[in-house]
Amino acid sequence: MEHRLVNLTKAANLIRNSNKICVFTGAGISAESGIPPFRGEGGLWNRYDPHILEIGYFLTKPKESWEAIRTIFYDFFHQVAPNPAHKVLAQWESDGKITGLITQNIDNLHAQAGSVKVYEFHGNCDRLLCLDCNKSYPSLSVDLKELPPLCPDCFGLLKPDFVFFGEGIPPLAYQQSIEAASSCDLMLIIGTSGEVAPANHLPHFAKRNKASIIEINREPSPYTKTITDIYLEGKAGELLPELNDLINLNN
Ligand code: OAD
Repeated sequence: MEHRLVNLTKAANLIRNSNKICVFTGAGISAESGIPPFRGEGGLWNRYDPHILEIGYFLTKPKESWEAIRTIFYDFFHQVAPNPAHKVLAQWESDGKITGLITQNIDNLHAQAGSVKVYEFHGNCDRLLCLDCNKSYPSLSVDLKELPPLCPDCFGLLKPDFVFFGEGIPPLAYQQSIEAASSCDLMLIIGTSGEVAPANHLPHFAKRNKASIIEINREPSPYTKTITDIYLEGKAGELLPELNDLINLNN
């Protein structure tokens, strides 16, 4: 059997035999929904300076920061839909295989696909938070024509409720993610460059618990040669349905 099929079959067997899977996703899983990743080919950070997402820059230059944020995250996010990779993961959760899905993505696509136990490590772009009075608003209800958007109640600055560089991780998501990663027997790492801390430490919690690690990516990451047991190179939206077919074929 060719190497690719051997690996796919091994991965399918591990997934079939586990009901304690923790999934860890990054921007790559949403690429086939039309959302550009941050790094690598077509990455946002080739076009924008990451300082637009630094909390210090946002607080001093909210208009400039918001202009880029609106283009990147709000002009088209409500038009995108989950792709086959998100859907397969939601199916595996309802089949009782997945105990937790940690995502660094803020696009809400896992929840839209039907995943329930989703731990949003970097928050979510669906809400805007007033930095003065702490009220939060659905982003679709806020007019983003005039920037920066201000709180209708107290005129404080509204900030997307996702994590900027220099901010802490939401405590509940942090705790749930560590627990999910530490207690799984199989971790699926999908579409992340593994370059952003502290999120990139999570797979190491799984490894320490002796979990097997399957990684899906279009190119090798820092995990591939260190903690990954089975590396599947390709697009998540193609490989996850292929794995699903293999699992169902042998049931
Ligand atoms: P990156 O943009 O750093 O990495 C995306 C990864 O997905 C790369 O390793 C690609 O090779 C891979 N990839 C691209 N298309 C793919 C596909 N169709 N199928 C599978 N893999 C694919 O994204 P993250 O690792 O998620 O933080 O970035 C981490 C954090 O950096 C983000 O959450 C964001 C950013 O700054 C915040 O916004 C706080």
